[in-house]
Amino acid sequence: MSVLNKKTVEDIEVAGKKVLVRCDFNVKMENGVITSDKRVVAALPTIEYLINKGAKVILCSHLGRPKGEFDPEFSMAPVAECLSKYLGKEVKLAADVVGESAQALAASLNDGDVMLLENVRFEKGETKNDEELSKKFAALAEVYVNDAFGSAHRAHSSTAGVAAFLPSACGFLIQKELEVMGKALENPVRPLVAILGGAKVSDKIGVIENLIDKCDTLIVGGGMSYTFFRALGYSVGISLCEEDKIELASSLMAKAKIRGINLMIPIDNKLGKEFDANTESIIVDSDSIPDGWMGLDIGSKTQELFANAIEGAGTIIWNGPMGVSEWENFAGGTIAVATAVANATDKGAVSIIGGGDSAAAVKKLGFEKKMTHISTGGGASLEFLEGKELPGIACINDK
Ligand code: 3PG
Repeated sequence: MSVLNKKTVEDIEVAGKKVLVRCDFNVKMENGVITSDKRVVAALPTIEYLINKGAKVILCSHLGRPKGEFDPEFSMAPVAECLSKYLGKEVKLAADVVGESAQALAASLNDGDVMLLENVRFEKGETKNDEELSKKFAALAEVYVNDAFGSAHRAHSSTAGVAAFLPSACGFLIQKELEVMGKALENPVRPLVAILGGAKVSDKIGVIENLIDKCDTLIVGGGMSYTFFRALGYSVGISLCEEDKIELASSLMAKAKIRGINLMIPIDNKLGKEFDANTESIIVDSDSIPDGWMGLDIGSKTQELFANAIEGAGTIIWNGPMGVSEWENFAGGTIAVATAVANATDKGAVSIIGGGDSAAAVKKLGFEKKMTHISTGGGASLEFLEGKELPGIACINDK
């Protein structure tokens, strides 16, 4: 799917119009304080463009997973404050989502003003893509812009349903995410190296199946490697293993062989006695995992092997850590891969980091600025890499 056949904000008339903009302001919070405003910052180009064009801007988003009613814990108030700071103008927060307060505030907007609706998930119909709610969103505005890439895999009223009732377009963030990731999938600078980690094969099957047709090298690390080891007949001790996915791992390896793809799995592993940050650890080859031990990271030989494969890449797609990267003793594999990706990027490779865990790991390790693109979407980037249609994009008017 390419955004290029979808309208973008630049294709629509917005001056003097009320524009409802769905953003993904689902920011990380601790005790009511925003701990990462990356998603707010990522939404600014579209908002600033609309302000400069003289639109009346009505922003909306979800925050967390409230249960369909007002809950102060999930209020958008901290986001309104953060937006006001970045935009240098007051962003008024409605007391409700589509009720009297939202309607009155929307009606009072002057050209270039910005307001924010309360958390869209305070409305029961939101996650059900309720048509009545979609119509109420539409009644607030004259144009709908979706810029919530992180929520584009959700078919909810504010991310998809509302588009049936207003002229629609994508914002700059969605445009950028789809252009970078779309090019990597459809027309990459080769060799294309995909690195997939994370706990479970079942979470990544769709991505592996889609990428196995497109990439030149597929690196598998993290918890899911142990299911691949079992497919090779190795013992995995007490490592994470999805018994019902062993056959699948086997067929993926066979498929890679037929297609001439270099499918790489770890050759050695750092094991722990138990699932604990400070557990005793050893490094052993993949075919020699003793009973009673669990794999928690890739080993040093694998770090080197993977780094060499990453070194010559033209394009890199990385989704999922190589081990329990939040624990110092088992972060080595993820650090080695992050370093190799950063070095390859320095030499001109395009590097794309899926959102969620991989983005968090890259940030924690201080490699954020080194990468070409870190997606703002966790689930959304995964579904995009699986080749799935994203409802929040499919619903937008074609060019
Ligand atoms: C995310 O953080 O991945 C998006 O904001 C979507 O949130 P959700 O999983 O609660 O729909």
